[in-house]
Amino acid sequence: MTPGKRSAAKAGANFKKSYITAADPCTIVIFGASGDLSRRKLVPALYGLAAQDCLARRFAIIGFARTPMTDEAFQASAVDSVKKFADAGAAQQEEKCAEFVKALAYVAGEYHRPEAFEKLKQRLEELDRAHKLQGNRLFYLATPPDVYPLVIEQLEKAGLARNPNGKSWVRIVIEKPYGRDLASAKKLNQAVLKVFDEEQVYRIDHYLGKDTVQNLMVLRFGNGIFEPLWNRNYVDHVQITAAETLGVEQRAAFYETAGATRDMIQSHVLQLTSLVAMEPPATFDATAVRNEKIKVLQSIRPFTEQSIMTDVVRGQYGPGSSRGDSSLLSAYRKEPGVAKDSRTETYVAARLQIDNWRWAGVPFYLRTGKRLPDRVSEIAIQFRSAPHMVFRGQGLAGNTLVLNVQPDEGISISFHAKLPGQEMKLKPVTMDFSYQKEFGAGERSAYATLLNDCMRGDATLFDRADGVEAAWALVNPILDWFESHKPKFPNYAAGTWGPYEADKLLERDGRHWRKP
Ligand code: BG6
Repeated sequence: MTPGKRSAAKAGANFKKSYITAADPCTIVIFGASGDLSRRKLVPALYGLAAQDCLARRFAIIGFARTPMTDEAFQASAVDSVKKFADAGAAQQEEKCAEFVKALAYVAGEYHRPEAFEKLKQRLEELDRAHKLQGNRLFYLATPPDVYPLVIEQLEKAGLARNPNGKSWVRIVIEKPYGRDLASAKKLNQAVLKVFDEEQVYRIDHYLGKDTVQNLMVLRFGNGIFEPLWNRNYVDHVQITAAETLGVEQRAAFYETAGATRDMIQSHVLQLTSLVAMEPPATFDATAVRNEKIKVLQSIRPFTEQSIMTDVVRGQYGPGSSRGDSSLLSAYRKEPGVAKDSRTETYVAARLQIDNWRWAGVPFYLRTGKRLPDRVSEIAIQFRSAPHMVFRGQGLAGNTLVLNVQPDEGISISFHAKLPGQEMKLKPVTMDFSYQKEFGAGERSAYATLLNDCMRGDATLFDRADGVEAAWALVNPILDWFESHKPKFPNYAAGTWGPYEADKLLERDGRHWRKP
């Protein structure tokens, strides 16, 4: 290993060790434990935390689901998920994995049956006593969303929603989708807050656990040089892209009822928008950060029938092929479980206007889609061009600051440089910061970060009741409009950058989408 590489690897190891501290002893109950989220994300993330000593020394995990299973079978399935889905490195430590799965237990039961929750309660008490877990409990709702109210009600009836001894804590993590429109999100908030206090509730959006997303706040508020430029005087426009190469996979049952606006815009993409546009919070804590984020959502100009027609584009992929591969990709309507005449959008682009002093007149262009040419999530801040061009004959574009959320996590900034030689010729160049090169750290589980935050009682990266409602309030008119106006689908080929109208959306303003 070269000295350079060695120091990068060392920095990576230190980075990994120091990013999270161990949590309180507790029991984590995963509702929907036999499902995909638990298998692919939660169990591997919990293992990753345990392997890095970032779970408390004493913990237990109970899987709860309808599927009958023994503790041993649940443990065996956990070993399998760790092997397949845990972060590289951690997954290979067989001894640690064997140790970890000893802490796993399973309770089978129907969500509407109080007896099942009595059984869960007994199991919790046994594990509490056996491992001295101090009565701390984290309930994770990873079931289909229609089951959430039922589980919450049963937890209350079983006396599990409040702490058992006055000193311990009880918290509940609720997965997205948090409702399917404003009315249902409000109803869910009411059901949740009837049983739990807001401080007990962690509405999770895994995008916020990504290092690069948190780094956006560090870039803006931990440095003196960016914030003075971060406004309408210097920024021409902002582009936020969350592009996926994957299609709907095996998730048609869910996706057919959701679509890209509900699945990605209402949650992940608006979260990124809030972080880009928010004012500096007074402190880095849950109340201050969430207060600033919600102000952004409240300042976004509400969509009207008219602005939806001009500023929102939806799409659905037809057949196509992925880059560098000639094999045919199916149309969305041909995917397993999708209706032959489905009107579900797999792509959406929108132009937002934020009506406040910082951003008035600066458009934010958002886009997300499935079956696009690249998997890339990024935020691009396009600065204005130099106000007066002293280098005659050179049409120079403004500088771009790009925050790569994934997969090549990092930041790059483009500027103009003089080409070597006699002539005054300018060329755009970029300066890159890469997480991988600097810290030796690969893409790391956002769920691990967020689960650890819940166990430490830090809600900064979670949404508050008013935050989710504000996001739904913004997208609700779009959803209604989509519902009542028939689209011409499919309108983009799989493996391309979305519908032609999405390009027009920017061209109309004299701009174009970045090619990531
Ligand atoms: C989920 C959506 O919330 O985020 C999925 O339901 C999407 O449809 C996923 O694929 C994207 O997350 P990531 O971290 O893989 O970019």
